[in-house]
Amino acid sequence: MCGIVAYIGHRQAYPVIVKGLKRLEYRGYDSAGVALLNHGVKLYKKKGKVAALEETTLGKDLDGHIGIGHTRWATHGEPSDRNAHPHLSANGKLAMIHNGIIENYALLKQELIKKGYRFHSDTDTEVLLNFIEDIQENNGSTLEEALRIALKRVVGAYVIVLIDKDNPDTLIAARKGSPLVIGIGKGEHFLASDASPIVEYTKEVVYVNDYEIAIIKPDELILKNLGNERQTPFIQKLDLELAAIEKGGYDHFMLKEIFEQPSTIYDCLRGRLDVIQGTITMSGIRNNMDKIKNANRILIVACGTSWHAGLIAEYVIEELCRIPVEVEYASEFRYRNPIIHKGDMIIAISQSGETADTLVALENAKEQGAVILGVVNVVGSSIARLSHAGAYTHAGPEIGVASTKAFTAQLTVLTMVALMIAKERNTITRDRYLHLLNELNEVPEKVKKALEAAEHIQKLALKYKDVSDALYLGRGYNFPVALEGALKLKEISYIHAEGYPAAEMKHGPIALVDESLPVVFVATRDTYHEKIISNIQEIKARKGKVIAVITEGDEIITAMADDVLPVPEADELIAPIISTIPLQLLSYYIGVAKGYDVDKPRNLAKSVTVE
Ligand code: AGP
Ligand code: GLU
Repeated sequence: MCGIVAYIGHRQAYPVIVKGLKRLEYRGYDSAGVALLNHGVKLYKKKGKVAALEETTLGKDLDGHIGIGHTRWATHGEPSDRNAHPHLSANGKLAMIHNGIIENYALLKQELIKKGYRFHSDTDTEVLLNFIEDIQENNGSTLEEALRIALKRVVGAYVIVLIDKDNPDTLIAARKGSPLVIGIGKGEHFLASDASPIVEYTKEVVYVNDYEIAIIKPDELILKNLGNERQTPFIQKLDLELAAIEKGGYDHFMLKEIFEQPSTIYDCLRGRLDVIQGTITMSGIRNNMDKIKNANRILIVACGTSWHAGLIAEYVIEELCRIPVEVEYASEFRYRNPIIHKGDMIIAISQSGETADTLVALENAKEQGAVILGVVNVVGSSIARLSHAGAYTHAGPEIGVASTKAFTAQLTVLTMVALMIAKERNTITRDRYLHLLNELNEVPEKVKKALEAAEHIQKLALKYKDVSDALYLGRGYNFPVALEGALKLKEISYIHAEGYPAAEMKHGPIALVDESLPVVFVATRDTYHEKIISNIQEIKARKGKVIAVITEGDEIITAMADDVLPVPEADELIAPIISTIPLQLLSYYIGVAKGYDVDKPRNLAKSVTVE
């Protein structure tokens, strides 16, 4: 994710670009930059939000009617001035901004270094830019032709926009997998990641398609495919207001992020999981595998939803890797003087990478010699920087306070880590390994299918929105999913909800059950299926209302439950990534039905950076 804005026309480009970047900061805010073309390239960029960029440009030469701007969400190279976009090509003639991930950037970088190229940043973007320059210089081709050749070799997702010192009246853009909108004005054109920077200037837009290249002058827009064939721009009328556009047309960021999960899980797998080769590649893990695979014990340290991801990881890692795992609340771990052995491995899970309890817990553990593995969403965050190694979740900025897409991305990464370790330790058969790789590969599609039940769940939310309490029950891998479902309901709708292992009910909590209490079972088909059916019967016998997340087609539980939330079949070890989806939607729709601010629930903050 990042925000891209570009302009060419009669206006001064800088104010249009900076105002647009501020509208896109919800897409990423690690750094911001602008390049203007006016008798050469003028480049200004700065770590931090757009406001920091504005401070650095005070008093500078900002004249120019063509420019490109970027607000970054880092994927390759930590947030810094040097990694900020736009990037300049080696010969200083080209400036480029990029949204996306170039998966084969390492190979391209090696080739360019052999040719004598030197890099000023750690980004994949700079590699692509110099790859384009190298083709242009070696083939004597136009920038457009060089771009077509380069993009045929690129693996990954991109929106790129370039300005060329030798063509000061032209913007060139290309798109595959990331979004690009072009606003059509009178003698001017606007480019952006979504329509929010464009809508105040024009309502006429063109949504660029994958594998298309746009050659843009103030009064001309040419679209071509990579085969150099002209494409007819399909001009549409914008009918969304500004606020709605930033949320992608969804009512809330939380709903947008729930529906982003098929693509964020795909982004998490992208460039890492290769079902054809039967491999998982995560250099941060690979480069530390000796320490990781020989760990005597793994301690998982996290808070809230990330702690729930840790519980699932405990089951998965112990099952696959046969290494003892303990999951700790960071807030407890940091104060209780825990025993940490030198051979211990600590996995820190954090969306923000800034949670104070987790950060301090890790600092203490690191001082005692533990190896720290970070599973973090925000690149270059404090926890990421403190870790010895790690893997980013690539879920993009999560704006809603309730964690949804970050949670499923955490589970995806942790499962891949467990599979890598199990393979190294030979604690998994080749068949089971390949089976689970395929299962992971199918998750984005299965999450997409689970999201199709949204309308059904919205109706269900109206039925249960006025309850005062709820129980969430699950067994095995689905027990932490029950905990997570209860947390979502609590934090979004302020209804008291508790999660329990389903078998634990008979040790006291079942006294709570009567006809007014909804009990949500996470009961997808797995090893415990017969047992959880008995647990459902225990609740029904006491007139409790049963809502069950089930594997689609499960007629037995469908006949027993008051309401069911079907999800596609999946291996029980992978199922939590999918079975959590209906529970996210249920809490969201109940919160909306109660009229609450589901993006900013009372008393909560997105990142708890205080103790
Ligand atoms: C989850 O929906 C909450 N927002 C909260 O529990 C969160 O998971 C917790 O504060 C940990 O945050 P982190 O993942 O950024 O460390
Ligand atoms: N992969 C590029 C980088 O890390 C672009 C990230 C983005 O989309 O902001 O700089």
